[in-house]
This record gives sequence, C-alpha cells and structure tokens, in this order.
Amino acid sequence: MNHSGFDAWARSEQAAVEAALDAWVPADAPAGLGLAMRYGVLDGGKRLRPLLVLAAAQAVQGQREAALRAACAVELIHAYSLVHDDMPCMDNDVLRRGKPTVHVQFGQAQAMLAGDAMQALAFEVLTPDEGIVPPALQARLCSLLARSAGHAGMAGGQAIDLASIGVPIDENTLRDMHHRKTGALLQTSVLMGAACGSLSDSAWQSLSAYGDALGLAFQVVDDILDATQASETLGKTAGKDLDNNKPTYVTVLGLGAARRHANELRDKAQAALAHSGLHDAAW
Ligand code: IPE
Ligand code: IPE
Ligand code: MG
Ligand code: MG
Ligand code: MG
Repeated sequence: MNHSGFDAWARSEQAAVEAALDAWVPADAPAGLGLAMRYGVLDGGKRLRPLLVLAAAQAVQGQREAALRAACAVELIHAYSLVHDDMPCMDNDVLRRGKPTVHVQFGQAQAMLAGDAMQALAFEVLTPDEGIVPPALQARLCSLLARSAGHAGMAGGQAIDLASIGVPIDENTLRDMHHRKTGALLQTSVLMGAACGSLSDSAWQSLSAYGDALGLAFQVVDDILDATQASETLGKTAGKDLDNNKPTYVTVLGLGAARRHANELRDKAQAALAHSGLHDAAW
C-alpha cells in the first residue's frame, strides 16, 4: 500500500474506532466517572495500537466485529495505563494528548477509578452477550490482552520503571522494562488482530517477532522524543524523563546510539513482517 492509500485507510479505521469507543464508553457511569473515562480515552492519541490490530486482522481476513472490539479493548487498556502513568504517584504529569491530565481535570481518586473502570471495560468489550464473537475467540483475545497488561507486561514494566528512578541500570534491565511496559501491548495488538483470522504457526511466529521488535522500537523512540522534542509537538511534557531521573535509552546508550538502535529495531521488525508472508496488509 502506498502512502496516500495508507493515510486514507488509517483515517477511516481511526474514525471507526472513535465511533465504537464513543458508543461503548458510557457517559452515564455514576458520579461523573463516565465523564472522566470519556475524557481519558476519546478524541486523542495516535490510535497506533488499534491500527495494528486492524491491519493484522485485515491481513488474515479476520472477523471484523471481533477485530474492532479488540482494537477498542487494547486502546482502553493503553488509555488507562496513561491515566495512571500521569498520576502524581507515578510520573506526575499535567499534560497528555494536548490536554490537562485526567487527575488534573477530575482529581486523583476519580483518575484512579477511571483507569480501573477502563481496564474492566476493555474485557467487557471483548465478551459481548449477543453471540457475535465465537466464545473460543473471546477467550483467546481476553487471554492475550490480560497477559500483556498485567504483571508479565505493562503493569510489571511500570513497576520496574518506578523502581529504577535514580538507579543506574544496565541495557538488559532497560530492555526488559521497555519490553514489558510498552512492547507487550504493541505486540499483543498485532497478535489479537491475527487471532481474529487464520494463519500458519510460522506466520504467527513472524508476526510475534514483528510486534516484539516494533514494540521495543516504539519505547526507544518515545525516550528519544522526550529528550529532543517540544511539549507542543508531543502533546505531553517534554524532558520529563530527565526531570524524573528515569533511566532511558537516551541516558543509558546516548542519543546517537539510541537512534541507531531504533533504526536497527525497525529493520528487524520489517524483516520479520516480510517473513510472515502477509503482503497484502495495510502495513
Ligand atoms: C505513549 O504512547 C506511552 C508509551 C507507551 C510510549 P503513545 O505514543 O502511543 O500515546 P498516544 O496514544 O498517541 O497518546
Ligand atoms: C509509558 O511510558 C508506559 C506506559 C505503560 C504508560 P512513559 O512514562 O515514557 O510514557 P509517556 O512518555 O508518559 O507517554
Ligand atoms: Mg512512565
Ligand atoms: Mg509518563
Ligand atoms: Mg515517555
């Protein structure tokens, strides 16, 4: 797919995800909780994880209803992780997706609950009553998402992140932290999309390797952007890692080596994708 074809595809899928999230995230949850949830997830972000789900699903002619639900579920988990990541007990950030963070807008307790409720909603979205997604696929999608969000993935990575403040860590520990806190959810996005259709074991392995390299690359680039870009460009506070004394690919390897590493990981991801044989995808 060429650039303009990709842009048109991405815009239309982003709109589909936005409409589905708008329908599924309730405004009427008690005591303003719904407003905080909607503020945290609607109308912002690049929607990269949903796009990965939908591209993978399309590449394997996956079931559309399941894929759209998986796309929204991953984004709900991601948005919840951002709401909690920004809280004063974690990164203490006031700007996210170009707006004041959820705890700044609604208070810390509501931000914590909004994150909790978004996490639960992700699994509700994956398990509709109406019989429109086969039970075995529902279970598979829940399993993939739970494993990437929990102790072995995002939450575990965030724990390492907080335990590493001001601590000199080696590249292996840093890689493990980044794989968990960010890589796991990106890799799972690809695999949840793939799970909506059928593919060979070897194509599955290649997509898994693709998601793995892409996921790590993404956090390496996030570290680089934090150190090199302005807050207005990022929609979140720049220079925050240094301020918070966080070890990153920039502090551990240096900016030049971090950039080279990001390029290596991108090449690795592209090679794995080519190896999957899934040529007709949006990617
Ligand atoms: C930010 O993720 C947090 C990381 C895991 C690096 P994104 O860069 O995907 O944030 P949004 O969704 O576009 O806001
Ligand atoms: C975020 O890492 C990882 C998450 C699981 C949310 P960062 O703390 O670097 O993300 P930003 O830079 O605040 O978006
Ligand atoms: Mg953080
Ligand atoms: Mg942060
Ligand atoms: Mg960051």
